[in-house]
Amino acid sequence: MSYGDGTRSVHAGLPAPEPGQPFLPGPVFAAPYHLDPATGPGPNGYGRPDNPTRRHLEAAIGELEGGEARAFASGQAAITAVLMTALRPGDTVLMPADGYYAVRSFAASTLDELGVHVSYVPTAGPYPSFEGVRLLLLETPSNPGLDVCDVAELAAAARAAGALVAVDNTTATPLGQRPLDLGADISVASGTKALTGHSDLLLGYVATRDAGLLERITTWRTQTGAIPGAFDAWLAHRSLATLDLRLARQSANAAGIAVALAARSDVERVRWPGLPDDPSYVVAERQMRRIPGLVSVDLGSAERAAAFLKASKLVFAATSFGGLHTSADRRAQWGDDTPPGFLRVSCGVEDTADLVADITAALDAAHGAA
Ligand SMILES: Cc1ncc(COP(=O)(O)O)c(C=O)c1O
Repeated sequence: MSYGDGTRSVHAGLPAPEPGQPFLPGPVFAAPYHLDPATGPGPNGYGRPDNPTRRHLEAAIGELEGGEARAFASGQAAITAVLMTALRPGDTVLMPADGYYAVRSFAASTLDELGVHVSYVPTAGPYPSFEGVRLLLLETPSNPGLDVCDVAELAAAARAAGALVAVDNTTATPLGQRPLDLGADISVASGTKALTGHSDLLLGYVATRDAGLLERITTWRTQTGAIPGAFDAWLAHRSLATLDLRLARQSANAAGIAVALAARSDVERVRWPGLPDDPSYVVAERQMRRIPGLVSVDLGSAERAAAFLKASKLVFAATSFGGLHTSADRRAQWGDDTPPGFLRVSCGVEDTADLVADITAALDAAHGAA
């Protein structure tokens, strides 16, 4: 039987019921474990490779992504694990020109120094030939521009040319799209965002159906030590149970906010892949199971963006996204190639009417700012 998203979120990765035991066992804090004096290491020998709390979380993420998962200390730890296990000097990697900036800065420094050729392509395309490409990394919807690409089409073409395909699934989450079903070899993500959604931990993961890749990723993690701690892994698993509920409210809030923003004459540009006239709409509707709670908007100037954030009572000025609390981030302040007044708005789980009223009032108050 195939369950719905709510049921899958609640039950993902839980051990079989045992009388007297909790639904989700508490975090296991251990560096070394007792060993059998005669036979030595069993399933748990040392905390870097082995932790039962982390394994429960990995079972949950693996179920949702439709593959085997390995959890990492952050999204960056997971993505760099993919890059460093897949690429060797002389290889070519194709990555988003408009994706998460820290991935590009890793490529421009470490990968470049290692002799890996890095090419950048905008998420919306056009894509070049994949001949000679070792790894295609996609990020869809892209952060922060919210462009979308057709994963199935690109993965088929890239794999036919002999490339590995990895998709950064951070903004979508595995309930929003399943890259492995769409033909990617790897789904990689930051779990810091909507996946765990409480703004209280950093997490990353890599999921794949390829046993060889999984082994290389696991070895990389064990050797570099890029593991999440037991408490973070437990908090993440506890938070996963509400993923379906949180995404539903975030998406509904994004719809309400996007429509309200788009109706204003003092707003330069609004992007939300769920708006029928958005450039991402057609592919997103076809490919995604739900549209994320991220809206981007250009308020015209840094001063006006600041005045808006000051006037709002409900929108926190903060980076990151996907949490319970609505927040907005002026991306140019971090070096993204976005207009000075461009805000990435991360819709939380507050009431839609309250958010729309607050944002409308704050924009009215900010109207006169330069
Ligand atoms: C699309 C995307 N990928 C990866 C990352 C990196 O994740 P983390 O901050 O958990 O290292 C981020 C962080 O914002 C992101 O937005």
